[in-house]
Amino acid sequence: MIVQPTVQPIADVEARWLALGVFQDELAPPESVRGTPLGELVGRLLAAKELPGALGDATPLLGHGGLAAEYVLVFGLGKRERFHAGTAFSAGVAAGKWLAGKARESVAAVLPDPDAGDRLAVASALTEGMIVGSAGPGLRKSEPSRHPFGTLQIVVPAADGPEPDALRAAIRRGEIVGEAVNLARELANTPPAEKTPSRLAARAAEVGTTAGLTMTVWDEARIRGERFGGLLAVAAGSDEPPAFVVAEYRRGGEAPTLALVGKGVTFDSGGLSLKPTSSMEDMKADMSGAATVIATMQAVARLGLRVNLVGYLILTENMLGGRAMKLGDVLTMRNGKTVEVLNTDAEGRLILADALSFAVEGKPDRVLDLATLTGACLVALGTKVAGLFSNDEPFSQAVQAACRETGERVWRLPLDDDYQEALKSHVADLKNVGGKWGGAITAAKFLQQFVGETPWVHLDIAGPSWADSDGATRDVGATGCFVRSLVALAEAAAR
Ligand code: BES
Ligand code: MN
Ligand code: ZN
Repeated sequence: MIVQPTVQPIADVEARWLALGVFQDELAPPESVRGTPLGELVGRLLAAKELPGALGDATPLLGHGGLAAEYVLVFGLGKRERFHAGTAFSAGVAAGKWLAGKARESVAAVLPDPDAGDRLAVASALTEGMIVGSAGPGLRKSEPSRHPFGTLQIVVPAADGPEPDALRAAIRRGEIVGEAVNLARELANTPPAEKTPSRLAARAAEVGTTAGLTMTVWDEARIRGERFGGLLAVAAGSDEPPAFVVAEYRRGGEAPTLALVGKGVTFDSGGLSLKPTSSMEDMKADMSGAATVIATMQAVARLGLRVNLVGYLILTENMLGGRAMKLGDVLTMRNGKTVEVLNTDAEGRLILADALSFAVEGKPDRVLDLATLTGACLVALGTKVAGLFSNDEPFSQAVQAACRETGERVWRLPLDDDYQEALKSHVADLKNVGGKWGGAITAAKFLQQFVGETPWVHLDIAGPSWADSDGATRDVGATGCFVRSLVALAEAAAR
């Protein structure tokens, strides 16, 4: 898909489809089309309340006349006072989904009105959204259900636009970030047989190398040599060997280093503590944290941000073969701590423990992990909000600020000392499950044992990483959540 800015009066834009955003409950047509036949038609439809403008709305307009473009899609931007880059993204997804439902060679989206927030951020987010909307979850359908556009123009009517170079950069950024979100979605939507740990590691290495990252992949022998006791125990029940991927990006000179750690369970059956079938259905996406890490690093490298990042993908299946770990087994983890396994389905914390220990040995300034860690987090916060846990106020604030920019939602949960009591074992330093209550928190407390004093944020993305149903502003399946926010975090660090 060719993505480019166009600075031109709307009536002259050459494209098969023109996408025009309107705000909810506004009766006047957007400024960009005022005084044109299209503006007149849109104005009449708005006055008649035929164009609701709610976020997610998409209404094709036929018979407008007076435009070089053949057809018009009016899409909703929601309420003007709530409009920002996050809503621009969602509006773009809705327009992208609608338009990509058929093969459409050229699409032009009009940049919303000038007073609506930071226009460059909006231009970038709208581009991201349209790219995300133009790719669907139907990876293995015989007939594709989504058709990426040949060209996508983001149009600014000449008079009031931002500076052209800045606009071009914002749109290029949107393209890179949108593609990274789609990469994360594609990886998590891929069938588990096609993304065994070694295959996923190879794919990540290829993606990273192409983007200019330095990639290292450890095989099982190396993992054993490095004493990753948690990873080896989880992988023991599978015929597929585990893998560990290190991705390095150092363009920040003396700037601080951020380590990103992603849970990469390519299929979580629960192990001997077997999940019921309905809970297992979507467990191919239990590697969404790892997908977000490699996708974020791809975007940061393609953007050439002046930052230092190290990514770690900890990859395994959680299966129940004859050599599977058993309840009562005691593991010795990378950092020497011992863990009694009392539920093999609490595998994410076992592998993350090793990855976090290893990450902090590299002395990063900050470490952030993403993991589809607990069903309890879904109970606490629902399907759309991630649990955020941190031992460090400034880092926690920085992550929350980045998430506010993109509209990706997090909610901070506590890490008070007394939750640690739930993890006391009679035979080892820790057990891998807490009690019945506060499961997202006890899981986070478990992870905290492996980060030492390093400023750390843990995002439990069990809810927002996956959408159970299709929506106007979101596809069913993997969401690629937090790629956008982590790119925003890296950008803030580079400023
Ligand atoms: N991968 C799951 C968590 C999960 C649940 C992710 C639902 C996405 C949707 C994790 O490995 C798991 O099984 N956690 C257990 C922990 C429990 C055994 C302490 C859970 O949440 O039930
Ligand atoms: Mn599990
Ligand atoms: Zn899991």
